[in-house]
Amino acid sequence: MAKMNKVNHVAIVVADIDEALKFWRDGLGIQLHHIEDVPSQKAKVAFLPVGDTEVELVQPTSDDTGAAKFLAEKGGGMHHLCFEVDDVAGTLVELKTKGVRLINEEPLVLPGRKMAFIHPKSTGGVLVELYEITK
Ligand code: CO
Repeated sequence: MAKMNKVNHVAIVVADIDEALKFWRDGLGIQLHHIEDVPSQKAKVAFLPVGDTEVELVQPTSDDTGAAKFLAEKGGGMHHLCFEVDDVAGTLVELKTKGVRLINEEPLVLPGRKMAFIHPKSTGGVLVELYEITK
């Protein structure tokens, strides 16, 4: 059975990171670690660590991503929950045998991590991301 090690991050889609920071940083008092352009996601992302996990504010930089469509349709909000696992590929195989619908059948390999998304149709409406941290 795949082990969910921790919540790596919760991603919140926003129209404007600077505007969103007025609540998440200035209001709640969560420290901003850094803001980064993430071309692979066509987004600008603000990283705000909280204990052992992180809030990510995701501002789409292009109209053709899932996050951009989410922003257009819902005006932003909580977008996905990401769990860290030891083995993304193995977890995907296991989920598939349980009949869980996947967005990525194979992990996407990025610098420092492998990742995949599980379809919200199988999770009660929550987009779930899986991370395997690699060296
Ligand atoms: Co994520």
